[in-house]
Amino acid sequence: MKEKTLGFIKPDAVKRNIVGEILAVLESERLDIIELKMMRFERREAEAFYIEHASQPFFEDLIAFMISGKIVAFVIEGENAIVRYKELMGATDPREALEGTLRKLFALSEDENSVHGSDSISAANREIAQIFR
Ligand code: CMP
Repeated sequence: MKEKTLGFIKPDAVKRNIVGEILAVLESERLDIIELKMMRFERREAEAFYIEHASQPFFEDLIAFMISGKIVAFVIEGENAIVRYKELMGATDPREALEGTLRKLFALSEDENSVHGSDSISAANREIAQIFR
């Protein structure tokens, strides 16, 4: 099924000047980028974006990290785009991420894990509407 998914390149990766390297991996995997922008989250926007994590112990650190610098937001479109991009990202914790995944290649830690991707069709719809309205 043709789907859209929302991704970020997070502040740790933008600060290390590896935006191009990460986009190159997406392109080499034939994931079609149909929207792309650099932006900076306001605290309230970040809190709204991550609302489903609001009760988690890591929520405050997550918000502080996501507003600590610029991010690059993008939309990928294609057959099974949500799962294909999630597999390419790898596990949330880079110590558990498989060889060749973005997080194995680039992430520093479970918090500074370089990339985000929507979890489901409903999350993707919500996230795309929020970021690319
Ligand atoms: P992501 O899935 O993009 O969005 C939620 C983020 O919370 C996740 O990436 C991690 O970077 C961060 N996080 C920090 N600690 C945890 C944890 N214990 N479980 C899940 N996510 C965590």
